[in-house]
Amino acid sequence: MNKVKIGIVGLGRLGKRHAYNLANLVPGAELIAACSPIRAECEWAGTELGVPELYASFDEMLEQASLDAVWIASSSTYHAQQALAALERGLHVFVEKPMGVTLEECAEIERAVQAHSNQVFLVGFVRRFDPSYRYAKDLIEAGKIGTPFLVRSQTCDLDEYAEFQLEFVKTGGGIFLDMNVHDIDLARWFIGSEIAEVHSVGGSFVHQGFATLGDADNTVCLATFKNGAIAVLSASRTAFHGHDTHTEIVGTKGILKIGTTPRKNRVEIFDSAGARTDCVRDFYERFEEGFITEAREFVACIREGRKPEIRPQDGTAATRVGMAMTESFRKGTVVKLQI
Ligand SMILES: NC(=O)c1ccc[n+]([C@@H]2O[C@H](COP(=O)([O-])OP(=O)(O)OC[C@H]3O[C@@H](n4cnc5c(N)ncnc54)[C@H](O)[C@@H]3O)[C@@H](O)[C@H]2O)c1
Repeated sequence: MNKVKIGIVGLGRLGKRHAYNLANLVPGAELIAACSPIRAECEWAGTELGVPELYASFDEMLEQASLDAVWIASSSTYHAQQALAALERGLHVFVEKPMGVTLEECAEIERAVQAHSNQVFLVGFVRRFDPSYRYAKDLIEAGKIGTPFLVRSQTCDLDEYAEFQLEFVKTGGGIFLDMNVHDIDLARWFIGSEIAEVHSVGGSFVHQGFATLGDADNTVCLATFKNGAIAVLSASRTAFHGHDTHTEIVGTKGILKIGTTPRKNRVEIFDSAGARTDCVRDFYERFEEGFITEAREFVACIREGRKPEIRPQDGTAATRVGMAMTESFRKGTVVKLQI
């Protein structure tokens, strides 16, 4: 098969990384178009990556570029409408998480993916492509920890990004839908059941600005699965040591811990300040390998006529739980999910 011609939309904090990967690190891919309403971002794609076609409007890119696939890394509120338009035009679609910010959007996407069953559709739950999380999943499937019944998973960002996050909340869906969406997906993946009930608490302990937006800078959620398993999912925007994502899965015969210490590398420093390791700074440094593997898998699925393991139903489930967690936090009550 010829190279897969891809157009990317969204060239912000993450979109630039995706664009670089698609242009340089993904065999069988050709990044032929890029789109952002911000001119400087488009110019960056042209100058730095040599992308030949640059667009300020997504609709124009769809109409004018000869694409096989689109890669959606725009602000979360645009994911669903852009994914639907691309599917309608017969294109393969990668969409960053969250797949949609309402359940109606998610249902529309599920219908469209079903109606276009020859097109590849992938939601960017990058942690599933991280080697350590993948290894943990394989160990669970091989029965190494017996039956998993408890997942503890957290996503923590450096405090210095709080200012960016205050703006991001307006289009990102809030701390549960933006950050915990990954932990929700992991918990469902490891437990193999649906989350049936959530109780979230939290507050704006460091940055009051989040409270005025109906959001929080630190949260904890207790979740119960349909099969009786439980999860504790937490998030923080106020980590001072680094990006600290880690997960623990407890089973009837053992425990798996993934990334408990967010070490930058294998160097341990022993000096007058003590014994320590440096930390990864941000989500990209932690999951760089996963982002590259995810892009390679999307392109390989297209070239080999395969379906990705992640289905649109996983995107819907994560949005459904993220929204229920937000509702529980705002109302201060337990929320039961309609599943
Ligand atoms: N998988 C992960 O771990 C992860 C991490 C960070 C961000 N994300 C997701 O990636 C997406 C982008 O995040 P970011 O941090 O790069 O945000 P950002 O705000 O830095 O960038 C958003 C980009 O979208 C573009 N954009 C906005 N509206 C648009 C429109 N109508 N049409 C075309 N382009 C438009 C902006 O110009 C910008 O280029 C978000 O949905 C976010 O949830 C995922």
